Amino acid sequence: MKNWQTKYINKIVCGDALKLLKEIPSETVTLTVTSPPYFQQREYENGGIGNEKSVEEYIDKLISILKEIVRITKNNGSIVFNLGDKYDDDGGLLLVPYKFAQEAINKCNLKLINSLLWIKPNPTPRQFKKRLVNAYEPFFIFVKSRDYIFNLDEFNKTKKRANINRRHTRIGEKYFELIDKSDLKEEEKKQAKLELIKAIEQVKTGEIYSFRMKIRGIHALPFGGQNGGRLYHIKNKGFTIIKIHGNSLKPDYMINSVATIKGAKHPAIFPLDLVKEIVKLLSNRGDIVLDPFVGSGTTAIAALQLDRKFIGIDIRKKYCEYAKERIKNLHYQKTLL
Ligand SMILES: C[S@@+](CC[C@H](N)C(=O)[O-])C[C@H]1O[C@@H](n2cnc3c(N)ncnc32)[C@H](O)[C@@H]1O
Repeated sequence: MKNWQTKYINKIVCGDALKLLKEIPSETVTLTVTSPPYFQQREYENGGIGNEKSVEEYIDKLISILKEIVRITKNNGSIVFNLGDKYDDDGGLLLVPYKFAQEAINKCNLKLINSLLWIKPNPTPRQFKKRLVNAYEPFFIFVKSRDYIFNLDEFNKTKKRANINRRHTRIGEKYFELIDKSDLKEEEKKQAKLELIKAIEQVKTGEIYSFRMKIRGIHALPFGGQNGGRLYHIKNKGFTIIKIHGNSLKPDYMINSVATIKGAKHPAIFPLDLVKEIVKLLSNRGDIVLDPFVGSGTTAIAALQLDRKFIGIDIRKKYCEYAKERIKNLHYQKTLL
């Protein structure tokens, strides 16, 4: 076992995950982010997972691998699995991801802390007249203990950065005119403008996502009930500002990302930006991030870009070569920076 690091750290290793994971010592890996082959969706290599006759057999195989992952995961680590669903011959969903999650909880002593939604803007088109498109897949976050790493600040930073791109936004400017046009008293107008400036600044710095302003005499008064407080402000102060914290269409647990890279040499690549979000949230610099079904190497690339180490395993030689090529290009790109 002495040389396990030489063999695995920052390497793409070709072979069967179950066999190879047994060579890695216990409690060494901080995070696993992976997407096993989907059940009966594609022809994968002999010995590869995915071509089993029943969902139960498929899940059993995944659970054997998951048990090894749990063993090599540190106490403060997490295990993230993305799975796709499948219809049976009668046109009913098999609920593969959820059956897997239940087995993982029951048999591997894991806690499921989140089920993120990967919203696919480019899903497989609708093939049946009486069925809608399934345009999302779950990313399950399992933990071993309550001490798991959870860098919420790092995770939120990206969202804030996205908003900082709005520093040139003209959001809210129209309200200055509306305040001037309104019949608010001079003192009320002054106060409204001060609070408006504050809200615009908050959008520009990413503190809030957006806001709306309601001004007495300009906007219709809200109904009572939950709006009672706002109604009071409009009547007594002349205005109210409704702050929107986070993009309401895209809360924390939804990550909207395009699946595959055009012309890629792997059929099921998952999106780099999504994996990077997960890596930032659930590991620290220098930690080891594992993907036992690494395919084109997306998890390895995310880990390297964020100064983590990686272990990548795939049974198919062709994909291992492709992953190595992508990683090599990454190093090349870094030298150009
Ligand atoms: C859904 S793909 C993963 C794609 C990957 N997330 C990416 O971004 O490219 C699943 C991968 O698991 C590999 N695989 C199948 N059975 C395996 C096994 N027993 N051990 C290791 N890898 C396996 C397949 O070759 C395939 O590349």
